Amino acid sequence: MTGGSVIGVCIGEATPGEAAFISREMPVTGEYVTLEFEDARVLGMVESLVRGSPAISGDIIDPDVVERILKFEGTGGQYVRGRVRLLGDVKDLRIPKVPPPPGTKVKRADTETLRQLFSTGSIRIGTLLSNPEVEVKLDANMMVSRHLAILAITGAGKSNTVSVIVEALIKLEGMPIIFDMHSEYGDAGFTSVKKIAPRLNPVYLSFAEFKMLVDVGKDAYIQERLLRKAFNAAKSGMKGRGSFIEKILRKLEEKADSEELKTGSEKNAIAGVINKVEDFENKYEGLVDPHAPHILDQLEQGSANVIDLGSVDEDYADVIVSHILRRTLYKRKTGDMPPAFCIIEEAHILAPAKRPTHSKYWIDRIAREGRKFGVGLCLVSQRPKSLDQNSLSQANNTIIMRLIEPSDQRHVQQSSERLSDDLLAQLSSLNIGEAITLGLMTKIPALVKIDKYPGKIKGGDPDITGEWKKRAQKQRQLKKQKKAEITDLYTNII
Ligand SMILES: Nc1ncnc2c1ncn2[C@@H]1O[C@H](COP(=O)(O)OP(=O)(O)OP(=O)(O)O)[C@@H](O)[C@H]1O
Ligand SMILES: [Mg+2]
Repeated sequence: MTGGSVIGVCIGEATPGEAAFISREMPVTGEYVTLEFEDARVLGMVESLVRGSPAISGDIIDPDVVERILKFEGTGGQYVRGRVRLLGDVKDLRIPKVPPPPGTKVKRADTETLRQLFSTGSIRIGTLLSNPEVEVKLDANMMVSRHLAILAITGAGKSNTVSVIVEALIKLEGMPIIFDMHSEYGDAGFTSVKKIAPRLNPVYLSFAEFKMLVDVGKDAYIQERLLRKAFNAAKSGMKGRGSFIEKILRKLEEKADSEELKTGSEKNAIAGVINKVEDFENKYEGLVDPHAPHILDQLEQGSANVIDLGSVDEDYADVIVSHILRRTLYKRKTGDMPPAFCIIEEAHILAPAKRPTHSKYWIDRIAREGRKFGVGLCLVSQRPKSLDQNSLSQANNTIIMRLIEPSDQRHVQQSSERLSDDLLAQLSSLNIGEAITLGLMTKIPALVKIDKYPGKIKGGDPDITGEWKKRAQKQRQLKKQKKAEITDLYTNII
């Protein structure tokens, strides 16, 4: 016999995948156990627990009766009934062919066995919730090549988890690229960080990206044709002075002045498109910059590459994210950059379930093709049900933290076969920083206490009352100052 202390014994009917047990001791949900039967030692996870007492049954209606029974019996008659999900033989994690027989002892798994299962990867994210002596380390190759989704309600600890993973990737000299929708990560204190301004050089944009920024709608065919011609002429090195946008405008103005435009709608269209290009220049002044280096040339291996999208609108964020994803996939195909891990915060905005966006197209393509070329995706979202199901189901790894809404939970379960009903039921009772890790990056599902990232993530819970106090103090001071000034003024006049 091997392993830790006996905590229970199997009862009733079991399958090769799960067994019920009773116990007098109270295990914790998520705790790992081993069951020995038919020459195998099988690992299991306690997934649900019920506690009861035959003497204190549910139909008692007088609290005094309960007190009398307790006085007479103590708590000795109480039992714990639970369910164990069988995860596979400790040696090779293969699910046994036969179920455990009734009477099989359920033992607490020993720390050494657990370490062999959970501590072999290269990205430490925390420790087992049920045993803080066991580090949980994830397989970096599997995480990057088979994509990751981090899902939880707001404030549950997604950004903290991202930071812990990014710091580990920096140590591995990897290439995390963070699309930072709320300007949280630039000053988070990573050991190496490369802050990248969200500036785009229009020369490197595709026509579809440019058209979106210029805001030519999908039904404005004439405007689109006129803009495309001017865009292509400027791109193919149209002669003359001026920036790329100036060249486009000049081309459009030449067209407006020419005799070629015959119908009224064509004349209106050219005036409209010229206005739109001018509006675009004003709106994105400082962002679309003909002197900006290519954004991909600024990426650094071994650093957290933070693209700050906190102050740009959703359309611009869509264009910049899709542009970087498209170019990254292309560069990986031609072997021009190291494998990259693209972390997309607020993924439900960039890849929404119900409407097309440029980013969604490229997120979906990388989700399908990225594995072959070493481009990984990390989709982070607090609204899984609003996130594109195609991309989500391509993420073969998931870190799920507290999730309350049943529709979100079901959506996550549909895209992750490994999430059993019992684990699903755990999701609403997880505390901040507690997570279920699933997928190829971990040998078996784990309930984890994620490390607290030691740096400072800006998106953490704001100190609202502190800010009220500070502002009120400042206002009082200003009032006092004003009063003193007025008194001074009066004294001087008198
Ligand atoms: N593993 C952890 N241990 C201790 N504290 C944590 C842990 N994870 C998160 N926290 C704390 O919880 C707060 C919220 O965390 P975080 O910003 O990571 O949540 P989030 O899920 O990203 O929220 P949002 O959806 O608003 O972006 C922070 O103040 C953070 O310090
Ligand atoms: Mg966050």
